[in-house]
Amino acid sequence: MKNVDSPTLRVHRSEPLRGHCRVPGDKSISHRALLFGALCDGPVQIDGLGSGGDNLSTARALAALGVSIALDGDRARVDGVGLGGLAPALEPLDCGNSGTTIRLLTGLLAGQPFTTTLHGDASLVRRPMRRLATPLRQMGATIDGRTDSAKPDEIYPPLVVQGGRLRGIRAVLPVASAQLKSALVLAGLQAQGPTEILEPGLSRDHTERMLRYLGAPLVADPVARTVRVDPTGWDGRLRAGPLVVPGDLSSAAFVIVAALIVPDSDVTIEGVGLNPTRAGVVEALKAMGADLTVEVTGQAMGEPVGTIRARASRLRGIRIEGDLALRAIDEVPALAVAAALAEGETVFADLKELRVKESDRIAALVRELGRAGVFVTEQPDGLTITGVAGNGGTLAGGLVQPMHDHRVAMSGAILGLVADAETLIPADEIATSFPTFGDVLTALGAAIAAA
Ligand code: S3P
Repeated sequence: MKNVDSPTLRVHRSEPLRGHCRVPGDKSISHRALLFGALCDGPVQIDGLGSGGDNLSTARALAALGVSIALDGDRARVDGVGLGGLAPALEPLDCGNSGTTIRLLTGLLAGQPFTTTLHGDASLVRRPMRRLATPLRQMGATIDGRTDSAKPDEIYPPLVVQGGRLRGIRAVLPVASAQLKSALVLAGLQAQGPTEILEPGLSRDHTERMLRYLGAPLVADPVARTVRVDPTGWDGRLRAGPLVVPGDLSSAAFVIVAALIVPDSDVTIEGVGLNPTRAGVVEALKAMGADLTVEVTGQAMGEPVGTIRARASRLRGIRIEGDLALRAIDEVPALAVAAALAEGETVFADLKELRVKESDRIAALVRELGRAGVFVTEQPDGLTITGVAGNGGTLAGGLVQPMHDHRVAMSGAILGLVADAETLIPADEIATSFPTFGDVLTALGAAIAAA
């Protein structure tokens, strides 16, 4: 299926999905491979790199900062310039739709002796940045952002980062956020003295794993939820080495849920990242009664990688909250579709952060499930979904409104695989993280076509 040229997907009730597939490289790990590769002391080869729009935003921004990057499909060669080798960008950096790009770059640029402006698309310019600016200012950087009279305490992109000499701090984060934690780690590597970061919950730890692999002076304590960076006595060099990015579990989640809900499906996904700080979706689906077989087959840069087999299952509602919700934060749009097809109620709670993702995902899921005829209620920090399995309900098709959010678009598409009428999805945003979404699913037998 050619979906690259087509902005709309047409989805119909599907025959069983069957076969083996792979998904593109993990988006979070790909950002870090590009960024940390650029800071290495020589050329770095990356394999399995994600080719979604967000990762391209990071690659372009680094190129604008003077880093030579040659992209070739899912491979890249990054000519690392070292922590002190970036050049001032001639123009503002366009971070597109990518929160990880803008936040990690802001942390890095806070320690660089020049000024950079970072901006993004209509979604990114509405995402909160004060959480990042506050600790970076304490470290000595000057960060300005756009203000909005509707929320006078907050700042938003465009951000202007005036970098310089930083001092280490002890930062107690107001939210568990890998973007924020990683930005402070990058600033901490350039600071005088140690930086200690304490999170209220353990967010994904790809930065810690990859930087340790590259030889950075970093100690993480997942139980205490702290990361300590101490560049004192460090030679400032990250050792260049080959980087291998596993498949993206967040993309796989849509394939897994599609296989669980389309009757008689049996799908195996190979080469998927299974980092436990990210694998809440597997735990949650198993607790819902999903027939999932997960096997760890290897490691890449300290990250477990493996195979997931998903077979169509009778699902039941559960509560997804606390640490489990944090470990499944990006998979809530996929899990909401599983919940819509389950028997009984699924309660999603402790997910206030979903309000400030690529869209307000709580509002978007309430709207999209409601459009399909699912009974759903909205809470400030989550939503409650009554699955149609228990009440013999059917699902309507219709037009999905992604609101600049790739994951809202993809959850609308997989819901369409079990709907009674056609579902139409404006698909531009899907390429943000999973450009081969339509191709992977149609190869498994899904009734998805480009319109
Ligand atoms: C990401 C961290 C998470 C996640 C996002 C990617 C990362 O965001 O939702 O999709 O790569 O560090 P927060 O750190 O804001 O929670």
